[in-house]
Amino acid sequence: MIIAFVNSKGGVGKSTLAGSLVGWLRGHGRSVILADCDTQCSSSEWIREAAPEVRVVRLSNSDEVLDELPLLASESEFVIADGPGSQTETSRALLLCADLAVIPCKASMMEARALSKNTSFVRQAQAIRKGPPDAIAVLSMVGRGYRLTKDMREAAMSLHLSLAETPIILRQAIADAPGQAKFCGNMGFAAREAARDLDTLFRELFPKIGLETASEIRMANDGE
Ligand SMILES: Nc1ncnc2c1ncn2[C@@H]1O[C@H](COP(=O)(O)OP(=O)(O)O)[C@@H](O)[C@H]1O
Ligand SMILES: [Mg+2]
Repeated sequence: MIIAFVNSKGGVGKSTLAGSLVGWLRGHGRSVILADCDTQCSSSEWIREAAPEVRVVRLSNSDEVLDELPLLASESEFVIADGPGSQTETSRALLLCADLAVIPCKASMMEARALSKNTSFVRQAQAIRKGPPDAIAVLSMVGRGYRLTKDMREAAMSLHLSLAETPIILRQAIADAPGQAKFCGNMGFAAREAARDLDTLFRELFPKIGLETASEIRMANDGE
């Protein structure tokens, strides 16, 4: 499964969420490759230090994405692609390969407007591919005490975009994790709230992976 973190705006949390998802999947024993498609290389530097066993591949343009991403998907259960902040052709290429596009965005009206541009890229890819990728927006770097407001829900609905229930709060531990070559989940007490937020989001996105007990797994299977 290829999961691409895309948003043509920089600084919205793509690399942070992509790297955190790599750590979370590893923590659940899943095989994962990180495909870093951003010239800033922030997620690849983080993962090389925090999870040296994870294969990290740099894909620096749209041709490399289209040629190599599908091959990587055949070599691992999950390929997490960290998208660039500006090169739109690379983002389009990611959307032509991904099974799921996660679109991190900050919670403001300005960001919601910028989101409509990303959404049109998603629609174009879905039209070409007659369905995929699934796409979901995630509110990231939101203030403490934030509740998913009616406004944001309506903005997402008007774009026909799903919006994750779980927002990711602005927390120091999340910003500190790459510098410490760690993930929030193994940074101890000070990072517990950040780790819980990320775990809640990833369980929401991948309900079957976060299951801990045999009875939880049975219940999920019975529900199908
Ligand atoms: N939830 C968060 N809490 C605190 N800092 C965050 C959070 N998400 C991202 N950051 C910080 O914001 C900056 C931009 O995030 P980044 O993931 O690099 O965005 P992008 O990849 O979209 O450009 C980084 O310095 C990162 O550490
Ligand atoms: Mg980035």
